Amino acid sequence: MDIRLLKPSDIPHVQHVNITNLPENYFMKYYLYHALCWPQLSYVAVDVSRPQKTPYDYPRIVGYVLAKMEEDPPDGVQHGHITSLSVMRTHRRLGIAEKLMRQSQQAMVETFGAQYVSLHVRVSNNAALRLYRDTLGFKNEKIEAKYYADGEDAHSMKLDLGFIR
Ligand code: ACO
Repeated sequence: MDIRLLKPSDIPHVQHVNITNLPENYFMKYYLYHALCWPQLSYVAVDVSRPQKTPYDYPRIVGYVLAKMEEDPPDGVQHGHITSLSVMRTHRRLGIAEKLMRQSQQAMVETFGAQYVSLHVRVSNNAALRLYRDTLGFKNEKIEAKYYADGEDAHSMKLDLGFIR
């Protein structure tokens, strides 16, 4: 498995992984906005064990993290934000999401001096909650009622990045 920075040419394939795995989907230009403004922060996981027969073959992208810096942080503290993370079912429980998250967190600190990283996750999403809370050490900040379009609440979570500095 190769974990590398997201390139603009990956975006249609990342969008495919996103649509397959999550109900929160974005226009192409929103991915591009991330890739152009914060090219250091978003990563893809590429399954290099699957042969690519021609350069036009579907890239073997099996996971991504789409991340950004908060532009006008209300608390005035430089921090990153995870916009979206997902891994294809065929490649889960191999540590890919953890690696994607750690790479992005490291880059937030090294490139932008981020103090912490934030995200939202559905209250029913036990797999992601276990990853964020137990594996990565995120803390629950608050519940945001009806955060999602279908009315589900979100945990607003935060991880202090002081351990990287
Ligand atoms: N059940 C319980 N714990 C889990 C699960 C699960 N299904 N999946 C991951 N974890 C926890 C475990 O502690 C795991 O460590 P272990 O395997 O040693 O027990 C740890 O997280 C690390 O797991 P990874 O292998 O790195 O996670 P994976 O690559 O499988 O991806 C993810 C996890 C991203 C949540 C995946 O299940 C997925 O894509 N789900 C659908 C999309 C999604 O929910 N994305 C997050 C939305 S929130 C947002 O985007 C900000």
